[in-house]
Amino acid sequence: MKPEVRDAINAHLKLELDAWYKYSAMALWFEEADLPGFASFAKTQAAEEMQHAYRFIEHLQDRDQSPVLPALAQPAATYDSPREALDAVLKSEQTVSESIRQLYAVADKANDQAARIMLEWFINEQVEEENMARSLLGRLRLAGEVGAGLMLLDQELGAGNIPGHNPDAAGA
Ligand SMILES: [Fe+2]
Ligand SMILES: [Fe+2]
Repeated sequence: MKPEVRDAINAHLKLELDAWYKYSAMALWFEEADLPGFASFAKTQAAEEMQHAYRFIEHLQDRDQSPVLPALAQPAATYDSPREALDAVLKSEQTVSESIRQLYAVADKANDQAARIMLEWFINEQVEEENMARSLLGRLRLAGEVGAGLMLLDQELGAGNIPGHNPDAAGA
């Protein structure tokens, strides 16, 4: 593996771990806000992000490279509203998508087919993640951000019905 690909994967690894940390903190806030369904959604997402991090770690290990675990910034502990939290989700997923695209370009330039194939899964995954965030924002808009509508959406999320999210789609 060329050093520029290894370095780019290690740099991206931080974003996946940051995402894990942000979703974990968000789950705590949702719990405090009496939204256990939203909290369960955020915990599921956090677990997925850790799986993503390990996909990168294992790709490096399988190719005899050393993964480097980064320092993580403290994630946001509070939000003004569920809407603000979900806006942060969409923004964060868009940042990850952009980083994956840049990483793919580095692998492509280095003619690293193995890294490219590994990254193709992530390209599909990010399409799904962004769609999920937008769908969830759409549902929140319909439900309204207070009262019965919000509780209904919370119940839906608690039952594991995450709009725009198909756990089987990207081969998770
Ligand atoms: Fe991810
Ligand atoms: Fe994600």
